[in-house]
Amino acid sequence: MARVIAICNQKGGVGKTTTSVNLGAYLAASGKKVLLIDFDPQANASSGVGLAKNADVKNIYHGVLAEAAPMELVRQTGVHRYEFIPAHPSLAGLTIELLQKPEREYYLHKFLDPFRYVYDYILIDLPPSVSLLTVNGLVAADEVLIPVQCEYYGLEGLSQLLETVDMINKNLGRNLKIAGAVITMYDAREHLSREVAKEVRRHFNGHVYDVEIPRSIALAEAPSFGKPVISYAPDTPGARAYERLAREVIAQEVRSREAVNEKIMEAPQAIATQVIAPIAPVVPTKPFRERTIPIRVVVAKTESIPAANGPKILYEHSV
Ligand SMILES: Nc1ncnc2c1ncn2[C@@H]1O[C@H](COP(=O)(O)OP(=O)(O)O)[C@@H](O)[C@H]1O
Ligand SMILES: [Mg+2]
Repeated sequence: MARVIAICNQKGGVGKTTTSVNLGAYLAASGKKVLLIDFDPQANASSGVGLAKNADVKNIYHGVLAEAAPMELVRQTGVHRYEFIPAHPSLAGLTIELLQKPEREYYLHKFLDPFRYVYDYILIDLPPSVSLLTVNGLVAADEVLIPVQCEYYGLEGLSQLLETVDMINKNLGRNLKIAGAVITMYDAREHLSREVAKEVRRHFNGHVYDVEIPRSIALAEAPSFGKPVISYAPDTPGARAYERLAREVIAQEVRSREAVNEKIMEAPQAIATQVIAPIAPVVPTKPFRERTIPIRVVVAKTESIPAANGPKILYEHSV
């Protein structure tokens, strides 16, 4: 079941598209099956993975309006197991098309449903605005990853983005999580860069990826060759940074499992703890992070329980 991650920040030029394109490539290089959805009318992610600029092909606009079969839209990047659905400038008109429709916020979510079973990761590159397109992208996602540029106004607008996430969770029945913020265009030699990075870590306390994406010529040049940096200049600091980011993103999968074990170890008065999981086979009907996996936590005071009865089940815990 896919982890669906929207790459979002309403500021333009902060590295959303660069992050989408290159994180996707390194997730694929790590063995994950990845779909990149370009949901920005500027269509920079599409050209960044090799589609001719503004090529008039069926794109996400047709998919969302059910004018094309979902699988018909999927195209190959040059990277193994890394596919994409392109955007086109006409996507800007989708906001107007959807305006009068009921449940207009859920169109991308519905379109994505069949893909959730096919990919490990679905990344959505969003436009720099809080528009109906952005709301559709966030509603479709399980998590949001926020690139923050290391510049004076880098943190501007982030509170508004967090409020938008809250609003979506409260009013649109979603459980969108912050996967993390990632610091982009970092230059360790600049005082300002270091200060902004510090401020981002304070602001997002505990929700910032360790890696700082450096300002890198290779990252800026690769899109003009229609390639992710892994295919253009893999042996550069910018490429290695996105490789590390992919590792951190993958580590979050493991960490969410470990968190369960930690909770169990903290159980009160536990002398012997044991997890029998799962009780029932897990039926993949929901995205991983929403799915409830029933596990049975066995907490037993071994000296007080007769051996014949075995350990007593004190409580059951779901995650
Ligand atoms: N780490 C980086 N180093 C150098 N240039 C970068 C870096 N990240 C992005 N850029 C360049 O900055 C510009 C804006 O980045 P982009 O990813 O398109 O931002 P957004 O999608 O947020 O508008 C692009 O020209 C891109 O090539
Ligand atoms: Mg962009």
